[in-house]
Parts: sequence; C-alpha cells; structure tokens
Amino acid sequence: MAETQTFTSSHLRGLNSGDKFKILGVVQQIKPRADKNNKPFWEVSIVDSEGFIDAKVWSDGKWWDARTGEKTPVDTSSPDISGLFLGAAVGALGTVSEFRGKQQFQFSEVFLLDPERFPISGFIRSSPVPVEFMEREFGEMVASCRPEIREFLENVFSGELWKKFRELPAAVTHHHAYVHGLLEHTLAVTKSARALAEVYKSSGIDMDLDIVTAGGLLHDLGKIDSYRLDPFPGMTVPGTVIDHIALGFSRFSCLAREHGLDKEIETAIGHILVSHHGRKEFGSPVLPATPEAMVVSSSDELNFIMYCWEAFPESGNGEPSISDYHPSAGRRFWRHGLTEKGDG
Ligand SMILES: [Fe+2]
Ligand SMILES: [Fe+2]
Repeated sequence: MAETQTFTSSHLRGLNSGDKFKILGVVQQIKPRADKNNKPFWEVSIVDSEGFIDAKVWSDGKWWDARTGEKTPVDTSSPDISGLFLGAAVGALGTVSEFRGKQQFQFSEVFLLDPERFPISGFIRSSPVPVEFMEREFGEMVASCRPEIREFLENVFSGELWKKFRELPAAVTHHHAYVHGLLEHTLAVTKSARALAEVYKSSGIDMDLDIVTAGGLLHDLGKIDSYRLDPFPGMTVPGTVIDHIALGFSRFSCLAREHGLDKEIETAIGHILVSHHGRKEFGSPVLPATPEAMVVSSSDELNFIMYCWEAFPESGNGEPSISDYHPSAGRRFWRHGLTEKGDG
C-alpha cells in the first residue's frame, strides 16, 4: 500500500478520473450485490473524520485481513465478510472513475487493520467548532433571558440531558451528522433567529426576544430521543416512528409542567417546537403563527440549506460549479466563483 498516496474522504473529491488513491477509515455500510451476469460485487461506505466515501468492490477485488501486520486473503465466498468488515477500521486502495458526468470510486483492495494501531475513535467526525466555545455561547444565550425563562432553560439543559444534547448529531446524513452537531445547529439557528428578531423588532413588530431564544434553543429537543452515537450517527426506533417534533413537544410539555412554567410562555415556546419545520408536508402539524415562531422556522430552514450549499464540493480549480439535484433541499446549488474585491 506504500506507493499510493493517502487521501481523506473530502480530498478525494478533487481527484480526476483514473487517479489512484488510498483511504483509511471505518466501514459504515457493506452490501453484497450481484451484477447483471450474476457476478457478486459489494457496495461499501467508509467514513473518516472528514466525511464518507461510497465505493464499489467488483468480484475481482481483493479482501485482506491485515490485523496482525501480515496480509492473509479473506474468503469472499463466505456469506459473512460483511460481519467481519462492518464497523472495522480498514485501509482501501481505489481508483476514481466517471459515470454520466459523476465521480465514482472503486476499491481494488480492502485491508482489515489492527484496531489497536488504528482506533475507531480517530475516524469519528466531530463539529469543526470547538465544543467549549459552543458551550460558552449556549450559556450566554440562556443567561440573557429574563429569570423565569432562564431558570427553566438552566433546569432543562443540565445533567444527563445536557450530556446527550452536547454530544449528539443533528441528523444521520443530511446536515450536522457528527458529534456535537445538534449543539452547533441549535446555536446557529438561535443566533440567526435572534438577529432576525432584532431587525423586525426595530421596524415595529412586537416580538419577545426571550421566547425566540428559548424556542431556538429548544426547537430540536426531540433529537436527543431520535438520534444515537454508537459510535457513528444513527436513528433510534422512536425517532423513526414518532419523529423529533412529537418527541420534543412531549418531553418539553413534561418538563414545563414539572418546572411550573407559566402556561402562556409554555404555549408560546411549544408552538415554536411544533411549527419549526414550517410546513405540514415537512412534519409540522401547524404552521408558524407568531413572529417568534416565524423567525425560528425560517432560521432552521436557512441553516439546513446553507449547510447543504457549503457541503457541495468545490470544482477545485476556482471555476463556477453547479451541484447535482439535492432531493432534500429541492434544488441544485451554484458556486458562482465571484469574490468580494477590496477597493485598492
Ligand atoms: Fe427539526
Ligand atoms: Fe433544527
């Protein structure tokens, strides 16, 4: 494996068709398939600390067990190579190709690596924002609220709940699908909602900034019951069949009752939780009906699509580029290549 250059998953996007590469990571998914001639092949997803790569291993691909340092071939006719490789640290040798204008990857060899030398924790993706910084910002936002709301938020975001909230991802694939992702997304939505609230407040709209803050910080509370890290982001059964909006509202209502939160405040914040997806077809049973709910819902959507825009790869040569159609965002994204130039 020594002569081929090692790339991380995000740097692979800059390679051209025909380029060879090596990648190190953890197998997140491995699916046996058969081609039209009934020859077996595998679809493999490898994650590393910067993202993931989906690749195919054709029937002539080689699978090795190199955990002891010596490589021994793995019998691919055994039905359980999936069990051996799933969740394991691997190295893979691959080639870039192109199909209908889209970059694709093939692995010619996959090596099972020694988990002592290549611990899985080294491949787990985490928020690019330092968690201590985010915790401080979160605390400052809570502290800015009037005592009644501040005390409730301090009570909610404590103990075991806070431990989970600061660790978990905000999604499994679409956005902020990494350690501390929920905290990063929550902060961005709340900051954006507060900024919008200030704009509309100054133009005469009657808006309660503390309700915006509380609603922003609590809007995805249900995600603590919807997602898990083991060690990669995954979905819980309640998250799949009940969804984070219903789970979050139910948890919030219990906490509000336990704390004795004022009923009007409870309803105003509860309305933000249930309406934050903005449309019934996106899972919200009601549409945002208050200025506070409107700014949180708009900020939530904006944070999602902005994340998707940022995640679509640059062309690598500074040229403008257009992304593939993004089904969740319902659009293609465009990097226009313009940059702000100074006066001189
Ligand atoms: Fe949400
Ligand atoms: Fe959200």
